[in-house]
Amino acid sequence: MKKINFILVSMLLCSICFAQTRDRSSMVKLIDDEFKFAADQYKVLSKNIPEGQTPQSYANGQSINKDIKWWCSGFYSGSLWYIYEQTKDETIKKEAEEALKTIAPNQTYTGNHDLGFMMYCSFGNAYRITGNEAYKDIIFRSAASLTTRYNPKVQSIQSWNANKYWKFPVIIDNMMNLELLYWSSRNGADKKYADISIIHANTTLKNHFRPDFSSYHVVDYNPENGNVLRKATWQGAADCSSWSRGQAWALYGYAMMYRFTKDKAYLKQAQGIAKFILTHPNLPADKIPFWDFDAQGIPYAKRDASAGAIIASALLELAQYSGDDKKKEYVNVAETIIKSLSSDTYRAKAGQNGGFLLMHSTGAYPLNSEIDVPLIYADYYYLEALGRYKKWYL
Ligand code: GLY
Repeated sequence: MKKINFILVSMLLCSICFAQTRDRSSMVKLIDDEFKFAADQYKVLSKNIPEGQTPQSYANGQSINKDIKWWCSGFYSGSLWYIYEQTKDETIKKEAEEALKTIAPNQTYTGNHDLGFMMYCSFGNAYRITGNEAYKDIIFRSAASLTTRYNPKVQSIQSWNANKYWKFPVIIDNMMNLELLYWSSRNGADKKYADISIIHANTTLKNHFRPDFSSYHVVDYNPENGNVLRKATWQGAADCSSWSRGQAWALYGYAMMYRFTKDKAYLKQAQGIAKFILTHPNLPADKIPFWDFDAQGIPYAKRDASAGAIIASALLELAQYSGDDKKKEYVNVAETIIKSLSSDTYRAKAGQNGGFLLMHSTGAYPLNSEIDVPLIYADYYYLEALGRYKKWYL
């Protein structure tokens, strides 16, 4: 009897091992295939960009490109660096270097809070991959430019300039720009950049979140005394709703801040945000969120593939800092997102979609802008998630 039990247990263990190996090799193949596809597809994309501009989207058969001061200008070169890192395709590397030259003047730009997106996703990856010190100088200068928007009375970096709607608006997205600051301090720039990023993260933690860890999109402050004037939205369905990409930025932002600081409050915050997202009754089975968790018309509302990609990448990082149960859950959901985004439902066919990788993102639904289209940052975070999965979990 003992012998039979032993044989049965051994057979069970063998079949588990076999299933795991098969699953592992299918993810290796999926990721490698996606990077090869991306290298070919971005050669199509590269033909659609006028001199001095950066690609943003594609709609009605037309490529949409933007001026370099647009918040997304760094994602094209960043995506190219991710593709180059995996494929070692020299044509892609050349294009990545050209794309950096196009956006380099942004290093002294102080007109918005997006310098982190613009200059860290691009030059940060370039420096990480090549070690070229000239890139580091540009990163430091960009960090200095970003800190000009910090107001010690508000204890935050101002996201957008004041206008008829806002006095000192801070959006949850701004958490993402702290990576530029903290990284710069860590790597030889002024320590005050890290201090500012911690103060900003703490102010956001205090004022942007609801008890269920969902976040408001915009908090407007009185710049004279730091009092909160209003909690509102710009791109979400309503002031009280949970705009999906905002939740994704928050998740990514606090996981990233924990990476740098090891402050348990940031870990707790990121895990709380993950719980809000992953247990939300409106999160679809393929784990690609609707554009807002409270969008009208669910389950027929538009999706936001970009939010899915950001969540996948963030969960893969958060899993690194979490205990076994949470780690397993986060990696499983990230894997589901990666598989969904790599499927025909979201991933474009070769040569189509204007050369972008992913379809079905939503930029700003209430502004009737970029609805159900490819978006450059969806591609960027998708590629980042693929790379993170390969580096950490295969
Ligand atoms: N940071 C702007 C957006 O997520 O649309």
